[in-house]
Amino acid sequence: MRPPPPIGLLAELTHRCPLRCPYCSNPVDLARRSAELDTDTWRRVFREAADLGILHVHLSGGEPTARADIVELTRAATEAGLYTNLITSGVGLKQDRLEALATAGLDHLQLSVQDVLETEADRVAGRRGAHAENRSVAGWTVAAGLPLTINAVIHRGNIGRIEAIIDEAVALGARRIEIAHAQYYGWGLLNRAALLPEREETLLARTVVERAQARLEGAIVIDYVAPDQFARHPKPCMSGWGRRFIVVTPTGRALPCHAAESIPSLEFWTVRDRSLGDIWERSPAFAAFRGTEWMREPCASCPRKEVDFGGCRCQAHALTGDASNTDPACIWSPGRDAIRSAPPAHRRKQVVYRKYGQARQSPVNRR
Ligand code: SF4
Ligand code: FES
Repeated sequence: MRPPPPIGLLAELTHRCPLRCPYCSNPVDLARRSAELDTDTWRRVFREAADLGILHVHLSGGEPTARADIVELTRAATEAGLYTNLITSGVGLKQDRLEALATAGLDHLQLSVQDVLETEADRVAGRRGAHAENRSVAGWTVAAGLPLTINAVIHRGNIGRIEAIIDEAVALGARRIEIAHAQYYGWGLLNRAALLPEREETLLARTVVERAQARLEGAIVIDYVAPDQFARHPKPCMSGWGRRFIVVTPTGRALPCHAAESIPSLEFWTVRDRSLGDIWERSPAFAAFRGTEWMREPCASCPRKEVDFGGCRCQAHALTGDASNTDPACIWSPGRDAIRSAPPAHRRKQVVYRKYGQARQSPVNRR
């Protein structure tokens, strides 16, 4: 049976990035510039996405503005009829280029911030001046008339400043802020011991967000992505595997989620030699965990199986060694203990920053 069409495309245009955030959602094995898809292939992918029924494209990375053709790509996505959202740290982006993006049809900009304190933000980003550049881009975005969303990844280093981060987003003119606890796979898993907040801090964070939601109602929309460690049930990761989203990596591999390459048993097809529609309907990787047939107990007979789809396949694989297992974020998972106690390989206190070719370690979890 044909799967219903997806709604979103996450276009990972490059893994290149001037920053080195230790919770980066890119794979630990970063793609080289020489292996990236060219402009014409992305143009074709955007047209195929629109033909498939996709409504919006997230232009992401790495740092998508590191692509010299980012304005052309934005125009191509707009001309294909897609709603375009640029996900950026803003570092390296100049005002005239941002205005060119707006002219090319960019619909929305999502700006990642590390912290409200300049020294801390620069330290987590691994680059002096990142905080200042980032705030300039926020101002130019609003001046260009583009709707602005702020993304803030929460970890033990900044969890005590959530309220200040929200207040700053309001001052910057953002219409929405996403407060999302770090996800622990890829770089996040590698750095879990240094990033994971204490239980009490995590519980308090929810109260802080709820208080801000009440105080700032009408001024800003505050979305909260709760941490898995203290949840009762997992989130419906990707709104269900192969159900709503396609991710295309810088090299052209089509994935059901951005971390799917961490599951070694999956076979991925590439947009270099297949159409997006063909991949969506027939690729083994998309079929692997689509629907509910693949589920084991306790998910197979659970009334929530169409609500959370068994949680996150990548987290299940990372923490239990088998992607078909119930996500340990679920209280009914036999592997539940794994969500709170990191495997020995991930108990280091030193942070490993992402960097091409070599890892750099630093005690970034200072408060
Ligand atoms: Fe979700 Fe599976 Fe837990 Fe049921 S048992 S709540 S389907 S993860
Ligand atoms: Fe891959 Fe959740 S990150 S399914």
